[in-house]
Amino acid sequence: MHVKELLSLKNKVCLVTGGAGKYGRCITEALGEAEAKVVIASRSVAEANKVISEMKKDGLDITAMYVDQADHASVLKLKDEIKAKFERLDVFVNNAVLRPMKTYTSPVDQFSESMRVNATGMFDITREMADLIGQSGGGSIVNICSMMGMFGPDLSNYEGTGWDVPPPDYFFHKGGMFTLTRYLARVLADKNIRVNSVSPGGIFAGQHEQFLNNYTKKVPVGRLANNDDIKGVVVFLASQASAYVNGINILMDGGMHS
Ligand SMILES: NC(=O)c1ccc[n+]([C@@H]2O[C@H](COP(=O)([O-])OP(=O)(O)OC[C@H]3O[C@@H](n4cnc5c(N)ncnc54)[C@H](O)[C@@H]3O)[C@@H](O)[C@H]2O)c1
Repeated sequence: MHVKELLSLKNKVCLVTGGAGKYGRCITEALGEAEAKVVIASRSVAEANKVISEMKKDGLDITAMYVDQADHASVLKLKDEIKAKFERLDVFVNNAVLRPMKTYTSPVDQFSESMRVNATGMFDITREMADLIGQSGGGSIVNICSMMGMFGPDLSNYEGTGWDVPPPDYFFHKGGMFTLTRYLARVLADKNIRVNSVSPGGIFAGQHEQFLNNYTKKVPVGRLANNDDIKGVVVFLASQASAYVNGINILMDGGMHS
């Protein structure tokens, strides 16, 4: 098969949760540019539609649908809506995240809230969407993890910024997602579903100058991630180009942990 065909997502239906967020917007654009029919599932359909109207200029096929992944009824409604509109689902990009904790000393209730969305809700929506992908004959799940799910925080990145240490819940649920990827790669194999993850480093979003200085000098590539960096990685994992890649994690950190 021609490599362009291997990487093409033409006629594939792809769901991205949190598709209007920082990385989500890049992922949505990438899947759309690879000719997929993309669904952005968001708690704010208005926000998602704003992102879509920017992208419609480029003629991409993107639809917004509501979901709160912490609400089982909402997850089932999204599944029904996708089935009713497209009659199938081929790719699920598990990208949404809630960050209720701000630092190590944040209230423990915020840890619970984080788990409700980022652990229980994340698993619930993954299982339901895997069911829909299975009904469609198989496909690909791409979990957006983080380098913070693989390594402890480098506290020297925060020196001189006035910031507190990063929150523990994030390291906990991202580490869980990293391992869940390998579990699902085996458990869903009989449904012809591949499951892989991407663990990005930080994306540039106008962060504190001191933080940028601290961080970038540890990255061989010499910068934070830009808006293009995740695009090819996700399209590769979503498409037939990665047909023999299953249960792996791609660390996308510019070489910071090399
Ligand atoms: N921003 C970074 O530097 C960075 C670095 C490494 C990994 N990541 C990962 O990339 C992914 C996206 O991160 P981001 O920084 O772009 O996030 P973001 O905060 O910009 O977007 C996250 C999206 O998730 C949505 N969301 C939150 N709770 C939800 C719920 N209950 N139901 C449905 N949607 C919900 C939010 O509304 C938002 O649109 C995350 O999985 C994150 O862990 C981000």
